[in-house]
Amino acid sequence: MFKLENIKKLNSALLSLGVSALVATSLSAATNGVSVDGAVKYPSVDGKYSEYYYNDQDIKYNNGRPATQNEINVWNIDVKPNGEGLPMYDVEKGKPVLDENGNPKKAEGSVEWGEELYDEQCVMCHGEFGGGGKGYPMLAGGSVASLKIQRLNPADENPNPDTPIRTIGSYWPYASTIFWYVWDSMPFPHPKSLTNSETYAITAYLLSVNNIKIDGEELDDEYVLDREKFLKIKMPNEDGFYPEVDTKDPQVGIERMRALLSDPTIYGKGNRCMSNCIEEQYGKGKTVDDLLMKINIPLDDGIVQTVSTERTWKEPEAAGAVMAGQAEYEAKCSACHGNPAIGAPVVGDKEAWAEVMEKGIEAVYANSINGINAMPPKGGHMDTPDDEIKMIVDYMINASK
Ligand code: HEC
Ligand code: HEC
Repeated sequence: MFKLENIKKLNSALLSLGVSALVATSLSAATNGVSVDGAVKYPSVDGKYSEYYYNDQDIKYNNGRPATQNEINVWNIDVKPNGEGLPMYDVEKGKPVLDENGNPKKAEGSVEWGEELYDEQCVMCHGEFGGGGKGYPMLAGGSVASLKIQRLNPADENPNPDTPIRTIGSYWPYASTIFWYVWDSMPFPHPKSLTNSETYAITAYLLSVNNIKIDGEELDDEYVLDREKFLKIKMPNEDGFYPEVDTKDPQVGIERMRALLSDPTIYGKGNRCMSNCIEEQYGKGKTVDDLLMKINIPLDDGIVQTVSTERTWKEPEAAGAVMAGQAEYEAKCSACHGNPAIGAPVVGDKEAWAEVMEKGIEAVYANSINGINAMPPKGGHMDTPDDEIKMIVDYMINASK
């Protein structure tokens, strides 16, 4: 690390060794020196110079001051689902708001006021009535039922084009998170600027646009939200994060799930067996259907089949491999048999060759060796052995199947 102290040591070391006359001279003038910053030396006057200066006096840093209690209070905010941290009294920027009589003012806010605040400070990003848009999150809409939509379930032939819509109303399990989130971080451009009462008002408004009732009561414009009423809020998806195991009670659900997963009998009773396992382990007359957990796909479906009865290994034909006779055909016969204009049966023409083959293979071999009509004997290549001609004919037949 680069430290001021090290420069001083460097300078005095140079001085005592008398290595650099330049440095020594410049240092000898008490007020003028050289500052070293990396490999670059800067002249300095009175311990200062324009680009960079070092200060060899004792430096007392005076960066800021301890945070005040009010400043800490502004940041030290969170609200838990049980209501812990939910403010009782109004506070603005860490300072209590007082009523006409100098007493702490109760923190509360109406839906109507919340709407005004929302329209001033939130609507430009989150849209009318929390409808979202412009890339900012929706603050209202969706439904708990929509959360079950699996959009691209690959098992479905026609995947559902609808998506789950997760908003604070349809998804968030606790209203305390709304209060806290807004209080702590919104409006985005200047967070922590809302008073406690304003936060209640905005929360009330957000609940109302999500059609959430408190204690059965609809949140109309006049509805005033305070701490007491806040504690009665039950969000629609409060239980959505718990397993429902034969119960709607989230706590019981968790306990049951835990018990289920730690019960070894649901995976079998630990006895290994190869036949009649279910009756043996679970009792007479028990079947797979009596098991608590089982794989529902028939595993033997379509896979119990002989893959191959072949017992010899054959070199698989490589793609594009040259078939026997092909090269000879290309050289000696293709000029006529690759051209439909000549009147020769074209190689690859199934029908033409099926007709040729009606004569029987021996006659066809004989005709190709001896010639037939416009077909010269051996295609004009008289030096070609009969066997080779037969091999070429085999190729032509195979390539035309
Ligand atoms: C300048 C644009 C802007 C303004 C103004 C604004 N927000 Fe936001 N808000 C955002 C952005 C961006 C996010 C997402 C932040 C993230 O995911 O990290 C967000 C997230 C939220 C969320 C969480 C939504 C969710 O489902 O995750 C809430 C609630 C919210 N804002 C409320 C408000 C309120 C209330 C106001 C007015 C007091 C407000 N916002 C003003 C930009 C804005
Ligand atoms: C000059 C052109 C020409 C060349 C070269 C030629 N053929 Fe032919 N080939 C024909 C014609 C034309 C026919 C049709 C004859 C007919 O049935 O009227 C024919 C017919 C055939 C037939 C069918 C015979 C049948 O019984 O109908 C075979 C097999 C055959 N050729 C093999 C060959 C082979 C093998 C070669 C090369 C070694 C070859 N040809 C080269 C013109 C040619």
